[in-house]
Amino acid sequence: MSDINLKKIAAETAVGDYVENDMVVGLGTGSTAYYAIKKISELVASGYNLTCIATSVQSEKVAKEHGIKIVDIDDVDYIDVTIDGADEVDRNLQLIKGLGGALLREKIVAAASLKEIIVVDASKKVDVLGVKNPLPVEVLRFGHHKTKYALEKQGCSANLRMIDHTPFITDSGNYIYDCKFESINNPFFLESRINTIPGVVENGLFLNTATTVLMTSENGKLERLVSGE
Ligand code: A5P
Repeated sequence: MSDINLKKIAAETAVGDYVENDMVVGLGTGSTAYYAIKKISELVASGYNLTCIATSVQSEKVAKEHGIKIVDIDDVDYIDVTIDGADEVDRNLQLIKGLGGALLREKIVAAASLKEIIVVDASKKVDVLGVKNPLPVEVLRFGHHKTKYALEKQGCSANLRMIDHTPFITDSGNYIYDCKFESINNPFFLESRINTIPGVVENGLFLNTATTVLMTSENGKLERLVSGE
């Protein structure tokens, strides 16, 4: 089965299982969350009254193109459910996110959500975080070389994310350093260290954030992993 279909199965199942009429819904970012946004637009077109919050400028654009109205996160008290993708998922449902560059808003939206449903294909499953992918860290532009130095003291090689030979700028106007560790064996400890570095705005470790992970394996079978089970 194609990668696209695997993403679609997880995303559309999440919408079918967790989105109900009159809910406040967080819209994730990335190629898997895209299918969730499309499915949510079908619910809206069929008459569902949904209040939607976007995790990125990109998701807001996709949502609007599909007829979904977006409201500001501060216009709601909380979000009933957010459906988002991830770059790595370990067996304890700890995540790396942010390869798409939206980690800051994604984390704020996740923190305001009663349920955070992560939709992925099985290529995102890892035994240990950080072995395959770098950890994205969003940093202020001011003094970013100093921030890079402090990040590398945590045992990684930190590379400024570039697009077409210029630094990638996030929706909030910051840079991203992609921090490649050999592996992240203690994500809680690493997160606490990274968060003490001046200039770090947010890191891509999403720890104890996912309430459920819907993961489609190569044969199209969907696995539902629930936090605490
Ligand atoms: C965006 O910043 C990321 O956190 C995405 O959620 C993540 O990169 C997953 O994207 P895909 O579904 O495109 O792999």
